[in-house]
Amino acid sequence: MQMPENNPRKILVINGSPKRESSFTLNVTKAFVGGMELEGQCVTEYINIPDLDIRPCRGCLSCWARTAGECVIKDDQMPMLKEKIENADFVIESYPLYFFGMPGIVKIFTDRLLGMLATYNGKMADADDGAAHRLRNPKEGQRLAVISSCGFSEGSDVFEPLKAQYDLILGKNNYTMICCPQLKALIEAGSEQRVAAYMKKMENAGRMFMRQGFLDSETAAEVSKPPFLPKAYRALVEKFWQDQETGGKNN
Ligand SMILES: Cc1cc2nc3c(=O)[nH]c(=O)nc-3n(C[C@H](O)[C@H](O)[C@H](O)COP(=O)(O)O)c2cc1C
Repeated sequence: MQMPENNPRKILVINGSPKRESSFTLNVTKAFVGGMELEGQCVTEYINIPDLDIRPCRGCLSCWARTAGECVIKDDQMPMLKEKIENADFVIESYPLYFFGMPGIVKIFTDRLLGMLATYNGKMADADDGAAHRLRNPKEGQRLAVISSCGFSEGSDVFEPLKAQYDLILGKNNYTMICCPQLKALIEAGSEQRVAAYMKKMENAGRMFMRQGFLDSETAAEVSKPPFLPKAYRALVEKFWQDQETGGKNN
């Protein structure tokens, strides 16, 4: 779907890796976003949240009880970021898997978005997509993709807690998740052709996401597939730890 010239789509990429620009996840996210940009005119902004001043939620529930969604903390960079989120057509969260969930800084940021959800009134939202809450002010057509990477091979197991969390926050059909297992090994030890083929898959997935706002199950499975077979991967991981012991470079 080509967008009219005068209506560029706004893409906001929120990078939650403490490694900022060296993030492996960001690397594949850029390929995905590159694909989105091929589908029409876009204005893309990348933000590294580890560089922002984002204070933790105080737990006062004012955003639910008294201030119609507004947080009482006004003197950090969260109001600026929240405004960007509200104005974006596509929000792409990009971060590594830490302890089978989101890294601390991403959790702090997510907690501060509580006011974007409608209140809990004694029972979960009556939604067939499993969402616990409704959005307070849903923006027509806005899409969220979460792109995460991890070191384990068993992507279908280790990302389950993260997926369950988003299912409850937003509902199963209201976000797109791409899980990239073995990503560090792919980027550091994969052949040039293998890395290029993976990036191409991510680019194509980005194109599909921009065209239709979600990925079909085949494409989502394809980009979430571990690049190496288990035996080859175990050999790579063993070699990595041996190299570390003899002075190799860090993660
Ligand atoms: C504190 C910490 C916790 C991690 N926890 C997990 C984990 O639970 N499961 C996993 O497969 N990988 C885990 N990893 C590995 C990272 O998810 C993996 O290296 C990721 O691809 C790094 O992405 P980045 O370069 O975008 O930061 C962890 C790494 C760190 C530093």
